[in-house]
Amino acid sequence: MGNNLEPEALAERDWFVDEYLAINKANWDSRVPHHLKAYDIDHFRSNPAFVSKVVQFDLPRLGDIRGLDIVHLQCHIGTDTISLARLGAKSVTGLDFSPASIHAARDLAKELNSHASFVEGNVYDAVSLLNHRTFDLVYTGIGALCWLPSITEWARTVSNLLRPGGALFIRDAHPMLQSLSDYREDGLITVDYPYFEDQGLRISEPHSYVDHDDELTSPETVSFNHGLGEIITALLGTGMNLIGFEEHNSAPWNPWGPSDEYVEELVNGEFRLRELPNRLAATFTLQALKPTP
Ligand SMILES: C[S@@+](CC[C@H](N)C(=O)[O-])C[C@H]1O[C@@H](n2cnc3c(N)ncnc32)[C@H](O)[C@@H]1O
Repeated sequence: MGNNLEPEALAERDWFVDEYLAINKANWDSRVPHHLKAYDIDHFRSNPAFVSKVVQFDLPRLGDIRGLDIVHLQCHIGTDTISLARLGAKSVTGLDFSPASIHAARDLAKELNSHASFVEGNVYDAVSLLNHRTFDLVYTGIGALCWLPSITEWARTVSNLLRPGGALFIRDAHPMLQSLSDYREDGLITVDYPYFEDQGLRISEPHSYVDHDDELTSPETVSFNHGLGEIITALLGTGMNLIGFEEHNSAPWNPWGPSDEYVEELVNGEFRLRELPNRLAATFTLQALKPTP
């Protein structure tokens, strides 16, 4: 277990809580120049109706979002946020703690004439940063939850951002996938990382999940996995009701490393195991509703 890890990489979650924000913010800022070259930006420019592959995947479950007020937590460079705006949301506000991401998102929205707007800050401060405004939909995911030390605090934030009758929509990495090894030459997939939230993981990875040559200037990250039970319990604990839960055998990035031998890219831009894809859930979609009183 944890075969390739330095002894100090794994520790009780609380050991990392003072330092995770600064480390992760620097890391996400350093990914932005590389992601700007890899996030289908030219398609957004050339086709005013284009929406990101991530949002295209979500659409059948998301349904009609025309006229909704949406907040997109951990919006990164805003490509999914702008996609939601393009689908007819009345307002879409993206929030992210990475200044470089928010800067890029604002530039992109301006260039593309999008009504999406952006706020810089920590997810846990979203309620005050958004002046206690409430929304019809909280949208988030695809590499979001793993950066947050407490899923209970996240669920409380989500619930406080929603109007009664409002909904959470999240598609994110499956916690079982998060606990598995990185690419190994021998093709094996092993359980190397924690599944539950009580341990944090501090590692250094010179490359992001998109192809790029130069190494990241801030390669270190601190992440926290959250088991499915922990996520669902945290949401139910706020009084929200679960209205949808699905597991998928694919992810919109390649989580298994460079080998074409055992990873295939599908036409919708999703990646999955080439052989026996149904042995492993890679992502999940969860929808929850804040009840009306
Ligand atoms: C993988 S991206 C997810 C966004 C989206 N799926 C995408 O790829 O465009 C993760 C985002 O979470 C942000 N993030 C991480 N921790 C955060 C926190 N505590 N508060 C706000 N944003 C955070 C990072 O800056 C990054 O932009």
